[in-house]
Amino acid sequence: MKALTIAPGKADSAAVLEVAEPAPLEGSLLVQALELGLCGTDFELISAEYGWAPPGKDHLIIGHESLGTVQEAPEGSGFSKGDLVVGLVRHPDPVPCVACGAGEFDMCRNNRYTERGIKEINGFASERWRTDPAFAVKLDSNLRDVGVLTEPTSVVAKAWDHIERIGRRAVWKPKTVLVTGAGPIGLLAALLGVQRGLEVHVLDRVQDGPKPKLVEDLGATYHTGPVKDIKLCPDIIIECTGVASVIVETIEQLGNDGILCLAGVSSHNQNVTLDIGNINRTLVLENSVIFGSVNANHNHWQLAEEALRKADRNWLSRLITRKESLNDWKKALERHSDDIKVVLDFGKN
Ligand code: BGC
Repeated sequence: MKALTIAPGKADSAAVLEVAEPAPLEGSLLVQALELGLCGTDFELISAEYGWAPPGKDHLIIGHESLGTVQEAPEGSGFSKGDLVVGLVRHPDPVPCVACGAGEFDMCRNNRYTERGIKEINGFASERWRTDPAFAVKLDSNLRDVGVLTEPTSVVAKAWDHIERIGRRAVWKPKTVLVTGAGPIGLLAALLGVQRGLEVHVLDRVQDGPKPKLVEDLGATYHTGPVKDIKLCPDIIIECTGVASVIVETIEQLGNDGILCLAGVSSHNQNVTLDIGNINRTLVLENSVIFGSVNANHNHWQLAEEALRKADRNWLSRLITRKESLNDWKKALERHSDDIKVVLDFGKN
């Protein structure tokens, strides 16, 4: 079968190679790939800024935003042939640490977790893949067109879950949320904010293309320019750009008792000068919380599936701006200014 691979540590090594069928040891669920979403992490893998091959191997099959149909499932696994499924990205460390031992592998304490298509286990960019049923989530068959968005939605479902857990430290009735960055993660974070009945603001640098209208059609408000120009101090900020100057602006704009969730993985070497004394003073005097959030556990994947089911299907499908075949993988890896989510379509020639 064909798979999109890289040689981790070697820049621009992406290639479609003929690889062996997935081995039964990789899991009892055999899945025929339908689609695969690409994200910023895949570009980091391709430019060799990130990523690890399976032990003893030179190549890694990339891809962590899966969608497929079950071809083989063992009796009693909860899955049957034909089910629409997605595969979980992170697998617990072998120790396991206290978090992984409790199924919260998104919070792994010793960094010995593995991640499909990213860290030491092959990903989902192959025509077929296997997984253990414990690391798969069945989707409503109605989600066929947008189910590939489950993984990025699981990441924001976790961010929202942790924001709300932090919020419960005191009486808290948040009204406003600002999301910085209107890529897939930002737009899905905004969707979950609207689903919670909050007043949602989204800030991005572009003034045209599909983003402003997508935000407006969600019932949220679109902004460009400096964060301070939004003229409100949000109860919650979800920072999805990873850009140092935007991060600083969000810290300065956060409301009293505010919660700032950092959800964008930054590139290295972005130096800014900060008055930490002043930042600390404000954070202390205003009970503010700044925290980072990555990945998602099984519960967040279920929450993601529910959020996608509740969302307007037409709005969601507009997030997928381009579909390319596996043969056209080079086109899929081009970056167009109007792209939101680019998907590899395994059914397309
Ligand atoms: C993925 C996460 C993963 C993170 C760090 C993100 O792109 O969506 O599942 O944990 O990269 O590797």
